[in-house]
Amino acid sequence: MITIRQLGEADTDSATDLGRRAFPAPAEQPDLRYELARSIARTWVAYEDDRLVGYVLGWVAADEAQLMSIAVEPGARDRGIGKALLARFLRELAAEGVTSVVLEVRKGNASARTLYERFGFERLGERTAYYADGEDGVTYKRAIA
Ligand SMILES: CC(C)(COP(=O)(O)OP(=O)(O)OC[C@H]1O[C@@H](n2cnc3c(N)ncnc32)[C@H](O)[C@@H]1OP(=O)(O)O)[C@@H](O)C(=O)NCCC(=O)NCCS
Repeated sequence: MITIRQLGEADTDSATDLGRRAFPAPAEQPDLRYELARSIARTWVAYEDDRLVGYVLGWVAADEAQLMSIAVEPGARDRGIGKALLARFLRELAAEGVTSVVLEVRKGNASARTLYERFGFERLGERTAYYADGEDGVTYKRAIA
């Protein structure tokens, strides 16, 4: 069974390790211990039984949020965990008064882009060679109630 809860002290090492496995570039690997102490950060983690299998991290500034990172354990993908994390993220942010969410994703990241588009994120534009290896970034935005 999958459960989702707010990031706590006990989750930071496993979530940071997952980010390291999910993103090859160090600049894209969040340090969840650091994020836990950051007042603008909002993070939820997904557990399957007693194993951390995913996280979603965003930053909130006034009524706007930026989705900074989302990752699901490779062996647990395509089972709806990413969707469950994103749904929880949007619901919790709406409850605290956030009205829009922006994000940036690699142009070639088809699974993430499909996920965002399924959730109603609209493409704002592209940033040429935004990533260190030269890949373009695509920006998305979504209003939340
Ligand atoms: C993106 C990611 C978080 C999705 O997590 P997930 O748990 O596998 O996603 P879900 O099972 O909830 O699927 C959600 C939707 O994503 C899309 N999706 C997932 N895997 C896909 C794939 N291999 N190809 C195309 N679309 C895919 C589908 O639209 C799917 O919805 P559907 O099942 O209704 O069609 C996961 O692939 C991941 O951790 N990737 C590596 C890290 C990353 O790139 N993060 C995003 C950039 S910040």
